Amino acid sequence: MDEPDRIPAADLPPRAVRRVGDWAVGNRDGEYFAVSRRCRHQLADLSEGSIGPDGCLVCPWHQARYDVRTGRMVEGPRGFLGYHGRTPGYTQLVRAYSQVLRLRVRRALRRGDDVVLE
Ligand code: FES
Repeated sequence: MDEPDRIPAADLPPRAVRRVGDWAVGNRDGEYFAVSRRCRHQLADLSEGSIGPDGCLVCPWHQARYDVRTGRMVEGPRGFLGYHGRTPGYTQLVRAYSQVLRLRVRRALRRGDDVVLE
Protein backbone atom coordinates (compact mmCIF):
# COMPACT_ATOMS: atom_id res chain seq x y z
CA MET A 1 0.00 0.00 0.00
CA ASP A 2 1.24 3.49 -0.82
CA GLU A 3 2.31 5.80 1.97
CA PRO A 4 -0.26 8.56 2.50
CA ASP A 5 0.70 12.03 1.40
CA ARG A 6 2.06 13.92 4.38
CA ILE A 7 4.06 16.98 5.40
CA PRO A 8 5.81 17.72 8.70
CA ALA A 9 3.52 19.98 10.73
CA ALA A 10 6.56 22.16 11.48
CA ASP A 11 6.69 23.01 7.75
CA LEU A 12 3.10 24.22 7.81
CA PRO A 13 2.82 27.07 10.31
CA PRO A 14 -0.40 29.07 10.70
CA ARG A 15 -1.51 30.83 7.47
CA ALA A 16 1.00 28.83 5.35
CA VAL A 17 0.18 26.98 2.12
CA ARG A 18 2.50 24.28 0.76
CA ARG A 19 2.69 21.82 -2.10
CA VAL A 20 2.25 18.12 -1.26
CA GLY A 21 2.21 16.15 -4.51
CA ASP A 22 -0.83 17.27 -6.51
CA TRP A 23 -2.31 19.07 -3.52
CA ALA A 24 -2.21 22.54 -2.00
CA VAL A 25 -2.15 22.01 1.75
CA GLY A 26 -2.71 24.82 4.19
CA ASN A 27 -3.11 25.71 7.81
CA ARG A 28 -6.04 27.95 8.70
CA ASP A 29 -4.86 28.73 12.22
CA GLY A 30 -4.78 25.08 13.26
CA GLU A 31 -7.41 23.79 10.85
CA TYR A 32 -5.64 21.98 8.02
CA PHE A 33 -6.98 21.60 4.49
CA ALA A 34 -5.99 20.04 1.19
CA VAL A 35 -7.37 20.94 -2.23
CA SER A 36 -6.25 20.14 -5.76
CA ARG A 37 -3.48 22.49 -6.84
CA ARG A 38 -4.64 23.91 -10.17
CA CYS A 39 -6.79 27.01 -10.17
CA ARG A 40 -9.98 26.53 -12.21
CA HIS A 41 -9.32 29.81 -14.00
CA GLN A 42 -5.94 29.54 -15.72
CA LEU A 43 -4.29 26.71 -13.80
CA ALA A 44 -2.07 28.73 -11.47
CA ASP A 45 -0.48 26.66 -8.72
CA LEU A 46 -2.63 27.24 -5.65
CA SER A 47 0.13 25.94 -3.39
CA GLU A 48 1.75 29.32 -4.11
CA GLY A 49 -1.41 31.10 -3.01
CA SER A 50 -2.28 32.58 0.35
CA ILE A 51 -4.99 32.36 2.98
CA GLY A 52 -7.16 35.45 3.07
CA PRO A 53 -8.58 37.13 6.19
CA ASP A 54 -11.83 35.17 5.74
CA GLY A 55 -9.98 31.83 5.57
CA CYS A 56 -10.40 31.41 1.82
CA LEU A 57 -7.52 30.22 -0.35
CA VAL A 58 -6.50 33.05 -2.68
CA CYS A 59 -5.03 32.28 -6.10
CA PRO A 60 -1.60 33.87 -6.63
CA TRP A 61 -2.35 35.03 -10.20
CA HIS A 62 -5.73 36.80 -10.30
CA GLN A 63 -6.89 36.41 -6.70
CA ALA A 64 -9.85 34.09 -7.25
CA ARG A 65 -10.94 32.92 -3.80
CA TYR A 66 -11.86 29.37 -2.83
CA ASP A 67 -13.76 27.87 0.08
CA VAL A 68 -11.32 25.11 1.07
CA ARG A 69 -14.05 23.02 2.74
CA THR A 70 -16.02 22.60 -0.48
CA GLY A 71 -13.55 23.50 -3.24
CA ARG A 72 -16.02 26.08 -4.50
CA MET A 73 -14.79 29.36 -6.03
CA VAL A 74 -16.51 32.04 -3.97
CA GLU A 75 -15.09 35.01 -5.87
CA GLY A 76 -13.96 35.01 -9.49
CA PRO A 77 -10.63 36.22 -10.86
CA ARG A 78 -9.62 39.86 -11.07
CA GLY A 79 -8.02 39.79 -14.48
CA PHE A 80 -6.75 37.22 -16.96
CA LEU A 81 -3.36 36.27 -18.43
CA GLY A 82 -1.03 39.18 -17.55
CA TYR A 83 -3.84 41.67 -16.88
CA HIS A 84 -4.73 42.37 -13.27
CA GLY A 85 -7.74 44.55 -12.65
CA ARG A 86 -11.50 44.75 -12.81
CA THR A 87 -13.31 42.46 -15.24
CA PRO A 88 -16.87 42.38 -13.83
CA GLY A 89 -18.75 40.25 -16.42
CA TYR A 90 -15.81 37.95 -17.01
CA THR A 91 -15.28 37.47 -13.28
CA GLN A 92 -18.90 36.35 -12.87
CA LEU A 93 -18.66 34.04 -15.89
CA VAL A 94 -15.60 32.23 -14.53
CA ARG A 95 -17.17 31.94 -11.11
CA ALA A 96 -20.29 30.43 -12.71
CA TYR A 97 -18.47 27.69 -14.62
CA SER A 98 -16.25 26.97 -11.64
CA GLN A 99 -19.36 25.93 -9.69
CA VAL A 100 -19.37 22.82 -11.85
CA LEU A 101 -15.60 22.37 -11.79
CA ARG A 102 -14.85 22.65 -8.12
CA LEU A 103 -11.44 21.93 -6.67
CA ARG A 104 -11.07 18.44 -5.31
CA VAL A 105 -10.93 18.30 -1.52
CA ARG A 106 -9.14 15.88 0.81
CA ARG A 107 -9.13 15.66 4.58
CA ALA A 108 -5.89 16.84 6.15
CA LEU A 109 -5.33 15.84 9.76
CA ARG A 110 -2.56 16.23 12.30
CA ARG A 111 -1.04 12.85 13.16
CA GLY A 112 1.89 13.07 15.54
CA ASP A 113 4.48 15.36 13.99
CA ASP A 114 2.90 15.27 10.54
CA VAL A 115 -0.13 16.54 8.69
CA VAL A 116 -1.50 13.57 6.76
CA LEU A 117 -3.87 13.66 3.77
CA GLU A 118 -6.59 11.01 3.86
S1 FES B 1 -5.26 31.55 -12.51
FE1 FES B 1 -6.24 31.63 -10.58
S2 FES B 1 -7.42 33.41 -10.67
FE2 FES B 1 -6.45 33.32 -12.58
